[in-house]
Amino acid sequence: MTAPTPLQVRVRATTYEAEGILGFELTPLAPATELPAFTAGAHIDLHLDKGLVRSYSLLNDPQERHRYCIAVNKDAKSRGGSRYLHEALRTGSLLTIGAPRNNFPLDETAPHHVFIAGGIGITPMLGMVARARTLGTPWTLYYSARTRQNAAFVDTLQAQAAETGGTLVLNFDQEPGGKMLDLNAIVQALPAGAHVYCCGPIPMLEAYERATAGLPPERVHMEYFAAKDAAATDGGYTVELRRSGKTLSIEAGQTILDALIAVGTEPPYSCREGICGTCEVRVLEGTPDHRDLVLSQAEKLANDRMMVCCSGAKSRTLVLDL
Ligand code: FES
Repeated sequence: MTAPTPLQVRVRATTYEAEGILGFELTPLAPATELPAFTAGAHIDLHLDKGLVRSYSLLNDPQERHRYCIAVNKDAKSRGGSRYLHEALRTGSLLTIGAPRNNFPLDETAPHHVFIAGGIGITPMLGMVARARTLGTPWTLYYSARTRQNAAFVDTLQAQAAETGGTLVLNFDQEPGGKMLDLNAIVQALPAGAHVYCCGPIPMLEAYERATAGLPPERVHMEYFAAKDAAATDGGYTVELRRSGKTLSIEAGQTILDALIAVGTEPPYSCREGICGTCEVRVLEGTPDHRDLVLSQAEKLANDRMMVCCSGAKSRTLVLDL
């Protein structure tokens, strides 16, 4: 497996989008005028200071090729990524990024899209709303933030709703009289055949999974931006690397990725939390203990690939295509 070639871009603009949220516009370095194409719901990896890699959703219209736009919430529990972007990155800075990848695509055959966003989970929805506008597909967006001051891109979304006939429902749960979005009521009122998409904090996504449990899985889409399950670190199994001919003993406290790094055979990786999909490896034999939030239930049951940063083994041995 080869790592996608990183790209260099320039931070052309930084913008204040809401309390705690900055926007960054990234453009190609001259003489290039275009960046690789992307689809709605895609993300890019940012290679930051001291080897830190973080993934952010692209929020601009996927028809645009001259720039990538992202927005970053300053996370009070930041392990360095959002703090670096807020405090160290400046307009004019150079930045190394990975090519766009998409674990959260829009189903372009759907007759109606219903988007549910919590907080900074609005970012992938912005690109999806733009794509729905291009396709002429009706859309409804429920956007929940703590307060109006914490809600980014509201003007843009209101303008798009007015232009396309889309429906924007804003919800501020920590304003006086505010409450959480009623996801059961939203799901029960879905238009016929609508696909539904959710991105937001873990409690919202867990409530969404419960509310949509009765829907056909192909109509239900979600993206986590933080790990839900702990990585598998119990160890006690063996990993064979078919192509390189190595056999690794995975010890307690180690992930498979840790062991691969130790022997210099690691695949590309980024989040190390099972949310970005970068470290996917083909499984040739054995049964993984899937802990990621990238693969669908059906993909997990197929047992033919896994995210080695967080998933372990249910069988005594795994054979990987490395
Ligand atoms: S590195 Fe992101 S899913 Fe493994």
